[in-house]
Amino acid sequence: MAKLKPGQGIPSYEASPDEYKVICENMTGKLVHMRLKAGESDKPHDHATHYMYVLKGGTVDIDSETEPKGVKTLPSGAAVKMPPGPHQVTNVGKEDIEMLMVEVTGELGPSPEGHVSPLSTDPKCYEVMFEDEDWFVGKMTMKAGTQDHAHSHRHHLIYAAAGDQLTIYPGEDANMQAGSDKKLVVDIKPGMAFPAPDGFHIVANSGKQDCKLIFWEPKVKQYVTLFRSIVRKYWFGACTLIFTLVSLLPPNPAKPDLQSIWPENGLGMTGSWI
Ligand SMILES: [Fe+2]
Ligand SMILES: [Fe+2]
Repeated sequence: MAKLKPGQGIPSYEASPDEYKVICENMTGKLVHMRLKAGESDKPHDHATHYMYVLKGGTVDIDSETEPKGVKTLPSGAAVKMPPGPHQVTNVGKEDIEMLMVEVTGELGPSPEGHVSPLSTDPKCYEVMFEDEDWFVGKMTMKAGTQDHAHSHRHHLIYAAAGDQLTIYPGEDANMQAGSDKKLVVDIKPGMAFPAPDGFHIVANSGKQDCKLIFWEPKVKQYVTLFRSIVRKYWFGACTLIFTLVSLLPPNPAKPDLQSIWPENGLGMTGSWI
């Protein structure tokens, strides 16, 4: 394979459109579905940094100048971060493989004010499959007829692995309640993918089947939301304090008389304050 640096090659979904398809996207990234039949190779292609979830695992041989390269086995259900760069992949196993990957743009999107993670409100429904400083790959499982508690997200990308219907109650903050006047009923089916906006909501599994979602979401930087909430809560006090301190400062010293220290010279120049 020709030696290429990250960003110099063709994206997977353009090089091998039969094997790689963009199934949804938002400002933060593209969710790509990849299926590679046993014994087949894709075309050489390039990736941005991507976070992968293995739907159907197997063994691949990766032709690349950099790691990861060589024969690798990826078990079903694994989630992993892959570095940017070009490569070519051959499925050297006996079964077809199927992967999901979010190729990131570098844009993380806004953080909701007073963020409350579903990982903390409903740890029995939500779990982290992989995480680094900026992103996590999560899994949500919810039994039919149940619902979670008010929580918030950044913009995220969702893949439905199981389920038939969700009802989403949007809200303004963590005190919101699920109501019937403002709701969004979403019919889903396995294989469906969709972007979800930032903000608060409650999710109910209003279908007949248990639901399983895989989602990719930039992490909320807790120190940013803490700083913002402090500023919002105490801005009047902070302004009063600053005004008081400024008013207590001594007055400016009198400007020196320039004529006395820089008298008019023979060329007619005088000093002046700029
Ligand atoms: Fe690839
Ligand atoms: Fe949610």
